[in-house]
Amino acid sequence: MDTSTGLPVVGMVGGGQLARMTHQAAIALGQSLRVLAVGEGEAAGLVTAAVAHGHHTDLDALRTFARGTDVLTFDHEHVPGEHLRTLVDEGVVVRPGPGALAYAQNKLLMRERMASLGLPNPAFVEVTQASDAVTFGEDHGWPVVLKAATGGYDGKGVWQLGSADEARVLVPELLDAGVSLLLEERVPMVRELSALVARSPFGQGAAWPVVETVQSEGINTEVLAPAPGLSEERMQQAQDLALRIAEELDVAGVMAVELFETSPGGGNSDSGLVINELAMRPHNSGHWTMDGSRTSQFEQHLRAVLDYPLGTTDPLSPTVMANVLGAPETPTMSVDERLHHLYARYPDVKVHLYGKGERPGRKLGHVNVLGPVDETTRAKARMAAHWLSAAEWPDGYSIH
Ligand SMILES: Nc1ncnc2c1ncn2[C@@H]1O[C@H](COP(=O)(O)OP(=O)(O)O)[C@@H](O)[C@H]1O
Ligand SMILES: [Mg+2]
Repeated sequence: MDTSTGLPVVGMVGGGQLARMTHQAAIALGQSLRVLAVGEGEAAGLVTAAVAHGHHTDLDALRTFARGTDVLTFDHEHVPGEHLRTLVDEGVVVRPGPGALAYAQNKLLMRERMASLGLPNPAFVEVTQASDAVTFGEDHGWPVVLKAATGGYDGKGVWQLGSADEARVLVPELLDAGVSLLLEERVPMVRELSALVARSPFGQGAAWPVVETVQSEGINTEVLAPAPGLSEERMQQAQDLALRIAEELDVAGVMAVELFETSPGGGNSDSGLVINELAMRPHNSGHWTMDGSRTSQFEQHLRAVLDYPLGTTDPLSPTVMANVLGAPETPTMSVDERLHHLYARYPDVKVHLYGKGERPGRKLGHVNVLGPVDETTRAKARMAAHWLSAAEWPDGYSIH
C-alpha cells in the first residue's frame, strides 16, 4: 500500500511497452506502476518514477522488487516458475500465479493441458530426437510446425519443417543448443483470431469482442476488432472457450487465447476453432481497446490483479489497429516531423508510441483507427503505421 495515497502498489516485472501502457492506466487509478526493468531507458522505465533495475531471472532482484508491492504481475512470461513459487511461499501475491503462468510459458505443457480438458488442439508431440519429428511428419503430412516449448515470441522459436531431411538437420541442431521442442500439425486455417478476456481472483470474467489478427513474417501487425464476418455463434464460442480456460487454469489478469479459424462462417457443431497459444498479460491483439473499448486491456489487467470488479468491455466503435515497426532503413526524417505530417493528414488517427529507439522490425508503437472494419479504415491504419515507420506514403501522397 502506498501510505501517501492509501492505494495499492502494483509491481510489474519487465519494462517494455506493455508495462509502459499499464502505467498509463495506473495513473488514472491514482497509482504509480512499479517496474522491474533489465536496463536503463526501457519503454516503461522512461515514464514511471518507480523503476528498479534488475534481471527477471535473478531471485534476489525479484525479492527486493516485490517488497512493498501489494501484487506482482508481468509484462512478459520469462520469469522462471521456480522463482515465482519461492516468492509465493515467502508471502508475495503473484498474479497470474505460477500455476497458471506455466501454461503461457511452456507450449508443450499448454498443449497437454488443453488436450486433457478436451479443448480443440492440433495434433502435437514432444520432440526429444530427430526420429520423433520424422515419424510425426510421416503420420500427419509435411510440412509440420516445430516450436520451442519455451522462450519464443513474434515467430522466433517457430519453424516450418518441410520434409524428413529438414527435420534430420534442424532438430538435432536445436536440441544440441538446449532448446526443448514440440511439433504440431500445420493447421489449415482461414485466418487467425484472438479471444481476449480478463479474470479476477474473485472469479469474475469479462470478454472483449473477438478480433482477427493479421501476421506478417510471424509478427502480428494488424488487428481487426471485431473480426469481420465472424458469426455471433462463433464469437460466443471463442469467448466461452477463453473464459473457460481462464477459469480452469485459475488465471488472474488479462489473458489472450490465440486461435486458428479453420472453416469460414460457423454455425455447425464443429466450432471451427483451434487453440494456438495463451498469453497471460495484456497482448498486442488488445491494443485496440485503448481507444475502441470502454475499458482498455491495461486498466482491466490492473483491476483484475487487484481483485477490483472488472470494467465493461463494450466496444465504443469498431477499430483497426496497426503496429508501427522499425523500417529496414531508419528514415532521416525525425519521428517528431513524421508525427506532424501524420496528424496533418489524419487528425482522427490515435497514435501510441513506446519511446523505443528505431531498429529494423522492432515494435515501436501502434495506431488505432476507429471506424467500420473495411478496406478504407484498414488502408488508413496501414498507411499511418507505414508513414510513422518509413516516412513514406505508399499511395504517393505529397506532404507539401
Ligand atoms: N500449428 C500451426 N499451424 C499453422 N500455423 C501455425 C501453427 N503454429 C503456429 N503457426 C503460425 O506461426 C505463428 C507464430 O506461432 P506462435 O506459436 O503463436 O508463436 P509466438 O510465440 O512467436 O507468437 C502463428 O501466429 C501462426 O501464424
Ligand atoms: Mg503467438
